[in-house]
Amino acid sequence: MTSSSEPNTPLLWVVRDELKLKGTKFGCGIAMCGACTIHLDGVATRSCITPVSAVAGRSVTTIEGLATDAGKALQQAWIDEQVPQCGYCQSGQIMQAAGLLANTPQPNDQQIIDAMNGNLCRCMAYTRIRKAIKAAAAGGEA
Ligand code: FES
Ligand code: FES
Repeated sequence: MTSSSEPNTPLLWVVRDELKLKGTKFGCGIAMCGACTIHLDGVATRSCITPVSAVAGRSVTTIEGLATDAGKALQQAWIDEQVPQCGYCQSGQIMQAAGLLANTPQPNDQQIIDAMNGNLCRCMAYTRIRKAIKAAAAGGEA
């Protein structure tokens, strides 16, 4: 990824304002809500506190490019379970969940809770989020 931004510019700013990829959201700006979650070399990462200089030569994936099997399964499960309410937090939720399933394809309830703990949802869709993660994980068993 190339950018004309200053090295300490948050990656989130570059993704949204320079690359015009608007799926990744700004919530808090201080790594407290998870709305800005993207993948950096496949690892769920808060883009609001990641300087663009830190991603040189690394793989950045946003919700627009999430095409892993787990990512696709999650997006389908999100539809099937009708997870979103206002939707604002949801791309961050899916990116966080995809990071979980990449390392733990069959997470138990506590692993899901622990992994998703930092992703806030003001609409309180937590029960549906967890149900969708379990459904996506179950789909991967076949
Ligand atoms: S905007 Fe990055 S964690 Fe809230
Ligand atoms: S669906 Fe509204 S903040 Fe999560």
